[in-house]
Amino acid sequence: MDSFLAALWVGPAGRVVGVDMTPEMLERSRELAARLGLTNIEFREGFIEEPPIEDGWADVVISNGVFNLCPDKLGVYRQVHRVLRPGGRMTVADICVETPVPEEAMRDIDLWTG
Ligand SMILES: C[S@@+](CC[C@H](N)C(=O)[O-])C[C@H]1O[C@@H](n2cnc3c(N)ncnc32)[C@H](O)[C@@H]1O
Repeated sequence: MDSFLAALWVGPAGRVVGVDMTPEMLERSRELAARLGLTNIEFREGFIEEPPIEDGWADVVISNGVFNLCPDKLGVYRQVHRVLRPGGRMTVADICVETPVPEEAMRDIDLWTG
């Protein structure tokens, strides 16, 4: 969904690349892009630990619930640095915790959703 919003924000002159590791998500995304008539967006198969994006290509890197799924955070951030142009930006909307979450909080869905 974030890729589609980004495609609207950058407009016809911009470009958006969505990366996902699952063929199912890629297929759904490509179908939706075609139905919406968005021509400035493409989806590539790959892991964000090694994203199929050229060095210095991106103005902005967005993660909404993906970086937090990757055990090697430092490796992911190195890749973000690699694909961003100098002065580019990163926006992360993931839930990250630095200390163990109590079991009671883990079970309270209201604490995990907006
Ligand atoms: C919680 S969803 C994110 C949804 C996304 N923000 C959106 O708007 O559709 C997590 C997605 O990340 C993908 N994913 C998880 N780990 C990944 C990885 N290491 N590399 C690439 N994709 C990954 C999953 O296949 C799944 O589609």
